[in-house]
Amino acid sequence: MRVIMLGPPGAGKGTQGDRIASRYGVPHISSGELFRDEVARQTETGKTLQRYLDAGDLVPDDLVLHLILDRVIAAHEEGGWVLDGFPRTLPQAEAAAKAAAEEGISAQAVVYLEVPAEVLADRLADRGEGRADDSAQVARHRLEVFTEHTRPLLDYYTQRGIIVRIDASPPVDEVSAAIFAVLDRIDD
Ligand code: AP5
Repeated sequence: MRVIMLGPPGAGKGTQGDRIASRYGVPHISSGELFRDEVARQTETGKTLQRYLDAGDLVPDDLVLHLILDRVIAAHEEGGWVLDGFPRTLPQAEAAAKAAAEEGISAQAVVYLEVPAEVLADRLADRGEGRADDSAQVARHRLEVFTEHTRPLLDYYTQRGIIVRIDASPPVDEVSAAIFAVLDRIDD
């Protein structure tokens, strides 16, 4: 199974990405998790990443590609992947598609999680463990960044015929059931 999770901050990409990865037995690759881990380890790269994460800005495409692409290719040997948070810009999507074509692989589905902005704000404000970038101001900026840079991927993948639009406002189990109903057919 090769799935890309797309959606605004707080839509449930991480939550549902975990569940998809377990169901189909493939690695869940989260760019945000990867970057937060790098920040926590205080590597030189982590120090650079922290500035972008704290501000809710996008990490530059070349750095993202450097950190992610090899992992995606390696995960393919484990039977596929769930990509959560990547690609996030058109240049990233184009670079990912090029690398995938070179490896003879491609995404089977792009799951687009749709949730109204006011619900997203509540979810991020309520997040239990609290993330530095969940303050109201930074969360608002992350949503603006999504609208400007990531939402265009909806058209990009719609043109390629692999978009699956899911209403991600209901409770987590209901959203998972709606996703699995579609992905199970692809996995057959
Ligand atoms: P990233 O970690 O990807 O953050 P995000 O896209 O803003 O998404 P979140 O993790 O906040 O939300 P989510 O959609 O995964 O929802 P979740 O399941 O957590 O990226 C962080 C930063 O890294 C970016 O701002 C950027 O700086 C950088 N970055 C990452 N990738 C990049 C890239 N490719 N290029 C450039 N920069 C990049 O759920 C949220 C909350 O809601 C949780 O508390 C959850 O329990 C709850 N919840 C989930 N589903 C439901 C539901 N159905 N009902 C009720 N509550 C729910």
